[in-house]
Amino acid sequence: MTAYKFSDNLHNLRMSPIVSISEEVRKKAPDFKAKTGKDFILFQRGEIDFQTPQYIKEAAKKAIDGGFTKYPKSGGEDVFKDAILFKLQYFNNATGLDKENIVCTYGGQEALELSFKLFEGKKGVGFAPCWSCVLENFVPYCATNFHQVPLESDFSIDYDKLDKALEGAAFFYLNTPQNPTGKLFSKEEVIKVAELCLKHGAFLISDEAYEAIVFDNKKHFSPTSLEYDNIISTFTLSKTYAMTGWRLGYLVTRNKEIPKLLKLGNYTQTAGVTTFLQHAAAEALKNKEESEKAIAQMVAEFEKRRDVFYNGLTSIAGMKVTKPSGGFYFFPDFSAFIPNNINGEERKHYIYDILFNEGIASVYGSCFGNYFTDNVRFSFSTTPISAIEEGLERMKKIFV
Ligand SMILES: Cc1ncc(COP(=O)(O)O)c(C=O)c1O
Repeated sequence: MTAYKFSDNLHNLRMSPIVSISEEVRKKAPDFKAKTGKDFILFQRGEIDFQTPQYIKEAAKKAIDGGFTKYPKSGGEDVFKDAILFKLQYFNNATGLDKENIVCTYGGQEALELSFKLFEGKKGVGFAPCWSCVLENFVPYCATNFHQVPLESDFSIDYDKLDKALEGAAFFYLNTPQNPTGKLFSKEEVIKVAELCLKHGAFLISDEAYEAIVFDNKKHFSPTSLEYDNIISTFTLSKTYAMTGWRLGYLVTRNKEIPKLLKLGNYTQTAGVTTFLQHAAAEALKNKEESEKAIAQMVAEFEKRRDVFYNGLTSIAGMKVTKPSGGFYFFPDFSAFIPNNINGEERKHYIYDILFNEGIASVYGSCFGNYFTDNVRFSFSTTPISAIEEGLERMKKIFV
């Protein structure tokens, strides 16, 4: 067969292990049910079990009927960008921005991919644990020389390590609230990270996908509210409005060179985001009253799930668990339950396998980088409280 010369970067992309885990569950769940009479508990997914709010669906229908079916404006429709500016002001406390600071994208993923692409082949840094898609997709796609700086065991930052790692870096990737830990970085932490980036002449690529899913009356702090020109914030409607399938997002930066670079964007992007979807997205953000109502309902449910999950996990002696302040994930450390003589690849899957055999799907820690490989991620985005309780019961039988 002819060996055609495809891009090495594409060959280096990897399928998310989370997809393979879901496949495995699909195959094994019927057998498990037949043997035990029980369902699999799905803690592996980042999908949401809420529906997109009705007012957004109506806006999409209206936009189609209104004839917004032509090519979109390069970089984003005015109506969407105006709504973004409004939301940046009331939700992110970010002022002094205009349309030239924004590029509309297909979800947070495209916003991130475009941001990483700006620094192709260069050194990038990010905390470990780190969202798997960054490691499996953006890093290889953009041939990034990516360095992981481990968070401490309570997910706090060691600034000396970060300072050293940033030497010679083109950018730092920060995700807050964070997947997989649920950590909400405080205003002070975000500012310190941004300033360290400035010191090293590096950009801060800020991934704020979970900005609206925050608990305990805390508030997400967006680096976009800082008046620095070395920040790109990426946002998505996927999680905030249960719109994962709509593929709508945007990036914001005070550095006007970037949207210009990307608006060549007509070409680096897919010639813009579907026009009528941008109209629906505009309504999602602009209708503050409906938006706040929908978000509050969803967050209240997630917070209840988080509390039940947290109480259950902390009742298992030896389990080290940090209470998430945002997102919908737990990332407990199971090292107390792994025998010392279990090492290497076997160790990475040890807890995952035990859980899987009891009908609990999770994601093993090594999906999120080189550290925290004794941890396991549990998502509570699609699991009602009854399923969480059932999962906890099964875990107690194994580990108590
Ligand atoms: C940390 C993080 N960032 C960004 C995204 C992007 O989501 P989307 O492309 O659906 O907007 C996700 C989705 O799971 C995520 O977990």
